[in-house]
Amino acid sequence: MSILFTPYKIGNREIKNRFVKSATYESMATPDGMVTDKLIAMYTLLAKGDVGLIIPGFMNVHPDGKAMPFQTGIFDDTMIPGLRRLTGAVHGHGAKIFFQLAHAGMQTSKEVLGRTPMGPSSSRRDPVYLFKPARMTQDDIMTAIRAFSDAAQRAAQAGADGIQIHAAHGYLISQFLSPFLNDRDDAWGGTDENRFRLLKEVLTAVRRVLPADMPVIVKINVNDFAPKDGVTPELAKKYCGWLAALKVDGIETSCSLPVYSFMNMVRGDVPVRELTRAFPLWKRPFAWVMTKRLEGKYNLEEGYNLEGAKVIKSATGSTPLIAVGGMRSLRFMEQHLLDGTMDFVAMARPFIREPLLVKRFREGTAEAVSCVSCNQCFAAMMHKLPLRCYNKNL
Ligand SMILES: Cc1cc2nc3c(=O)[nH]c(=O)nc-3n(C[C@H](O)[C@H](O)[C@H](O)COP(=O)(O)O)c2cc1C
Repeated sequence: MSILFTPYKIGNREIKNRFVKSATYESMATPDGMVTDKLIAMYTLLAKGDVGLIIPGFMNVHPDGKAMPFQTGIFDDTMIPGLRRLTGAVHGHGAKIFFQLAHAGMQTSKEVLGRTPMGPSSSRRDPVYLFKPARMTQDDIMTAIRAFSDAAQRAAQAGADGIQIHAAHGYLISQFLSPFLNDRDDAWGGTDENRFRLLKEVLTAVRRVLPADMPVIVKINVNDFAPKDGVTPELAKKYCGWLAALKVDGIETSCSLPVYSFMNMVRGDVPVRELTRAFPLWKRPFAWVMTKRLEGKYNLEEGYNLEGAKVIKSATGSTPLIAVGGMRSLRFMEQHLLDGTMDFVAMARPFIREPLLVKRFREGTAEAVSCVSCNQCFAAMMHKLPLRCYNKNL
């Protein structure tokens, strides 16, 4: 039997195979963040398709940490019954489910929040929405940490098998980790140890409230691809070594600060027309020029985060490593599981197109994914459309 279909543990949770559905914003919750039947139907189908571990799209832990208009929320106890229906549906088909807990920090908009977004620093104007973020006070930081631990408690009450702290992709924790975005000189910035402090405090706080056997994993950038001074694989290795010392139950490696280098996160085609049309008329010429410039520069390379993953693996020892980013063929996945580069294969876009993909792999009716990384699903998100494959040749 292929290693892909062998079980492996994250903490004390046995995952039935090595396939992970990486978190993907669904744009399917109600405007106030409640789970809908549509969301449940999507994950029921994925669980039926034999994915070992499902990580639904990022859930905001606080109303001030909301990134997208139809994002699932986990910031209030009234959300627990809906979330419980979601875990129940997935468990009914033998899959495990971890909730990804997130706070957007300054990577959101006034339109979504109804107030100025806040982050570690206020020096950099948001290049897309042009606002200057509010610099978080000590109280704001403590509120955010508390929001993560309250949300973790709700995840446990809703029956999630584990949680994933979102420390990647330019959201709040990633902002603090990044020397490019964090120019503080207090306890939360100025040195690598200080920039790591928010992640460490969040990890400690969630652990304090969760049942001892509930795994906590972290998604982190192995490279920010910032214009300058961002997280590099070497800095990520230092951070991940500290995560391993704190006995985190797993690490998922990703990359990019989307506001500054969004195509690095996904790679593949640049849907110039669709992305441009997501902006108000007066911004479109500028958006057209900016996105057109990216065309052809980010072609998908299979397993594009694996070089970074290899660097951090030397510091993380036996901590399970989940690698996402351009996993496309069975042979490639198998080879990198066998050589120990990763312990789990995570995919996002391929599962949007083919929820039954793992089943097809297992039954031998597919050897590679059919997703062509056209990124229409990514552009659809900007148009507030629900998550699905929008490839015109489907
Ligand atoms: C439409 C869309 C939504 C995404 N939403 C999230 C998210 O909520 N949380 C997250 O950590 N990553 C998110 N990502 C990034 C993916 O998890 C993944 O890291 C990236 O797509 C690369 O993997 P792939 O090549 O398998 O698609 C999203 C990606 C896409 C295309």
